[in-house]
Formats: sequence, structure tokens, C-alpha cells
Amino acid sequence: MPSTDEAQEEAHIEELLLVASLHENERLEKLLEEYKFTDYNAVDVQNAQGMSPLHAAIASCEKKQLNGESGSGSVSTESAACDTVRLLLESGAIWNQLNKNGETPGCVAYRLGLYDLYELMVDAGVRAEIILNRLDGYERLEDEEVEEGEPEENHRNDTQNTTAEGVDDDEVPTLIESATSMTADTSIGTYQDVNNADYLASDLVLTRDKLLDEQQNGVMMAWESGIMKRSADLLLTKPEMRILNIGAGMLIFDSFVQAHERKPAIHHIVEAHSDILTNMEAQGWNTKAGVTIHSGRWQEILPQLITENQTFDAIYYDTFAETYSDFREFFTEYVIGLLEPGGQWSFFNGMGADRQISYDVYQKVAEIDLLEAGFDVEWHDIDIPELETEWEGVKRKYWNVKQYRLPVCKFMD
Ligand SMILES: C[S@@+](CC[C@H](N)C(=O)[O-])C[C@H]1O[C@@H](n2cnc3c(N)ncnc32)[C@H](O)[C@@H]1O
Repeated sequence: MPSTDEAQEEAHIEELLLVASLHENERLEKLLEEYKFTDYNAVDVQNAQGMSPLHAAIASCEKKQLNGESGSGSVSTESAACDTVRLLLESGAIWNQLNKNGETPGCVAYRLGLYDLYELMVDAGVRAEIILNRLDGYERLEDEEVEEGEPEENHRNDTQNTTAEGVDDDEVPTLIESATSMTADTSIGTYQDVNNADYLASDLVLTRDKLLDEQQNGVMMAWESGIMKRSADLLLTKPEMRILNIGAGMLIFDSFVQAHERKPAIHHIVEAHSDILTNMEAQGWNTKAGVTIHSGRWQEILPQLITENQTFDAIYYDTFAETYSDFREFFTEYVIGLLEPGGQWSFFNGMGADRQISYDVYQKVAEIDLLEAGFDVEWHDIDIPELETEWEGVKRKYWNVKQYRLPVCKFMD
């Protein structure tokens, strides 16, 4: 038997969920005010199924559609739900809580085809991520002031955490609170349990169709060949260019570059992992005409290239187990010094690709940061076929969206 307090809390939760699902905003506002000083955060309560007021406000549109309420059900119901969702978000609701099916409120909206609601949830995610990224910058500044010269300790991984408006940064949930993270096999995004230093110290296993680290995380997979080919095609706009690639991996991108009809005159590759470097040597990459291999982390190599006044017509960035703030550092600090004025650059866009809403949130976050850094981005969509057997032996399926959005960036006019 639940205690009286527990019973009261359960009753409050059910009441809040019901009122949210009915889109009764005035009543909802009153309840949020009334329960403001309880131990639980009324706007983010969850029932035994993990349903929060945001989930309830969105999920109830399905029932109303099925019942044929409000005419066809969808337009007026969705617009009422949008008002409720706005109210909850303005009251500080966390945008990315998971229900027991592993769905955020935005995932529910996407599954039900409620695109206005989905867009509201994406925008909430973008706002939260941007605030968090800014907070991260301030934290780092403070750390530097306090402990000048000390290495950064236990620094939070930007792509993995996010905050809802009004939530203390220390309490923020991970972008998606589950085994998933804002990550992919890439550069921009990283596995929750791998950081760059650990990855670089681990032994790699390279087979015909995949490259795995010691924990069976997929570092690179052959199914990404189409993406690599298109990236090379879009970057190599004329023959005899100078191209820089950061992250060799399975050498898929670099092989397309070398075999290309508009083969570059100069092809630099930056790679930090000793196993990959050994493999490159074994395959004769060290002696290929026009190819220069730089052994080390891009964080050490790129400043040297800038000091030597080396510039490139095209740059590609695809590393592993790095954070979004590493990526942002790359394009805010280095691309400006390395890219020729009329040049183009691209990156493996795998941020948040384990679920549609994270992918959409991070596309917008990146676009905003790229604009702020002075870059225009053009997105090219590539259909990704259904992937199944590909994941055998891989710890976590890091790709779960139907279309890859390939970015091509250039300096703003
Ligand atoms: C996803 S793979 C690149 C795949 C490559 N685009 C291909 O087509 O096969 C990432 C690569 O980045 C390298 N890497 C990771 N962190 C790095 C860093 N900080 N500097 C340079 N290379 C790094 C990894 O060792 C790995 O070889």
C-alpha cells in the first residue's frame, strides 16, 4: 500500500497527465503553480510508463485522431496540443525525457506524423543544446581562470548532455537518457563510454567491412562508402586541388580521393591512431605521389600546418570519440587558417544519428554555430538503405535515421 504522501503524489501525477492530454491550458497552468513547492518537479513528473506531461499532450493527439474528434481530428487537435507543449516548455519542461518505450516526446510526435509538434520539440532541443554549449564555454573559462595551467579535469562531453531551459547544468540529463548518445562513428559525437585518449590507446580490429575498437564500438563501417564517395565528389570540384583529410579510418574517403577523375595534386592526411598508421604504411600510402601523412592528433598537427602557411582547397573532417566542442574548436579556430578563400569543407555528419530528433536537433545546432563562425552550409540528402546484418558484432547501432545529410561548407560571401 502506498503511503499517503505517495498516494497523493501519484494522484497529482495522474491529474497533471490528464489535464495535459486534454490540452486544458488554464487548468494546467494552475496545477503547475499549485504543485510548484512539492518535492517533485510538477512539469516533469512521469507515471509508471514514463509518460510526462509533454508525452501526454502529444500522445493524446493519436487517440483524438483515431476517434475522429475535431473533424478529421488532426489540425485543431494538433494546434491545441502545440499550445500545451509551448506552455510546458515555457514552464521549464525537459524536452528529452524518455518514456518506458525509449521515446522522447518529440519521438512520439515524429512516429505519429505530428510535424508541427515535432518541430516545436526540435526547436526546444536546439535551444537547450545551445544553452548547454554556451554554459560549457563559461565553465571552461572559469576553470582556466581558477586553475591556470592545470589540465582540464573530468570535462563534460558536450554532445552527450543537454539541459532544459531553467534546469541547473549540474542536473542536466544526457541528450537522450539511455544507452544512446549524441553520437555516431564520428568526429562529432562520441560514445558515452569512449573518450579520445582511451580510444587512441586501444587496439583496433580491422576487417573487410568494419573497424572496431577494443570494446567493439564501430569506428568506421563499409556501409558508409556511399557517403564517403559523395563527399569526395562534392569536395573535388576540379583536378589538381590541394585536399586535407582528418581521420583516415578504413581509408575509404582517401581511396575515393586517390581514384577520382579529378584527382588532387596534394593530398594530406592527419591520423592519430598507431594501428591505422601501421596499416597505411603496410598499404603503401607513405610512398604514394602527392600524399603526405601527418601522424598525431589534429589538435597538434593543424597549428603546425598553419604556422607553415599551408592552405587547402578542400578539407574533410571525420574523427572518432571526440566531442562537439572539439569539432567546434576545429571549425572556429583552424578552418579559417587552412581553407583557401574559395575552398569548401565538409565533415561526417553523424551527430545524434541514433534517433531522428537528435539528428535534427544537432543539424540545427551545427548550422547556427557554423553561421556564427562565418560559414554557409549546403545540405545534400543521401538515402541510407535498411541496415541489419551490418551491426553484427558491433556494440551499439549508431545509425538509425533514413537520410544522411551531407554538409558542404564555405566561407560566407
Ligand atoms: C571514422 S574514422 C574515419 C573514417 C574515414 N573517413 C574513412 O573513410 O575510412 C575516424 C578516424 O579518426 C582518427 N582520429 C580520432 N581522433 C583523432 C584526432 N584527434 N586526430 C586525428 N585523427 C583522429 C581515428 O583513429 C580514425 O582513424
